[in-house]
Amino acid sequence: MAMTLFKNFEGVLDPHSAEADLINSLEPQKLPRHIAIIMDGNGRWAKKRKLPRVAGHRAGIDSVRATVETSARLGIPVLTLYAFSAENWKRPAGEVNTLMNLLKEYLRRELHTLQENKIRFQCIGRIRELPESVQYELQFTEEATRTNKGMKLVIALNYSGRLELVDALNKLLQKGVGYPVSDEDIEQNLYTAGLPEPDLLIRTSGEMRISNFLLWQIAYAEIYVTDTLWPDFRGMHLLEAIRDFQKRERRYGGIRPITLHNTR
Ligand code: FPP
Repeated sequence: MAMTLFKNFEGVLDPHSAEADLINSLEPQKLPRHIAIIMDGNGRWAKKRKLPRVAGHRAGIDSVRATVETSARLGIPVLTLYAFSAENWKRPAGEVNTLMNLLKEYLRRELHTLQENKIRFQCIGRIRELPESVQYELQFTEEATRTNKGMKLVIALNYSGRLELVDALNKLLQKGVGYPVSDEDIEQNLYTAGLPEPDLLIRTSGEMRISNFLLWQIAYAEIYVTDTLWPDFRGMHLLEAIRDFQKRERRYGGIRPITLHNTR
């Protein structure tokens, strides 16, 4: 059974490597259906090397690539990355520009990889407030990958969990949904409508904060914090987080553990 997970890594990973051992130790039936990641520590990574902060963001792209690849090969249905929060506009204009440019570059450069791996791209957040050229790339990539049936890669941009709830409530008011509003009403009007809730939330660089990320959706998520800075994060770190997740007992407020039944 365990060998089936490694199958998609054949020819990519040495079967005798530590990574291969870790993959073989995972339980295929208990993989998270949705992994959400707060990518943190780019600035600190750069500072340690006496480099400008943007060098940390640039290095973070390799971590994005490695994380997307490992998740897709494992067959994780949804991966959400927190790339730019609604609060990040407070950063110096040069840094904000670099982040926007890196995102455009990533989308352009990685489109063929997304297509080859049947990855479907989606962005969440107040997208209409982003520069037009960024919106164009986002829309282009969403459109180009719309019919892909593999992993869903969700990038949170100009995202705030509180504003997402505000937007959902305003959508409900606009639609004329009256009192009493149900939790399904709210859920169906979130940016993430139709996606499973994250089972595993990873935060890099050691901070124990949620930072306004997916506030509604992480109600029952298992939280995993690693000291690894985002630019150092690779497939091995993701596998360690998943192994840790599989050891946890999930009770959802009940007294018995619940077994995850993966549909894949
Ligand atoms: C946090 O580090 C990281 C960010 C605010 C941005 C993450 C963005 C990328 C990795 C590049 C673009 C993303 C994609 C999806 C292509 P920080 O600057 O807050 O680090 P610090 O806490 O050490 O200062």
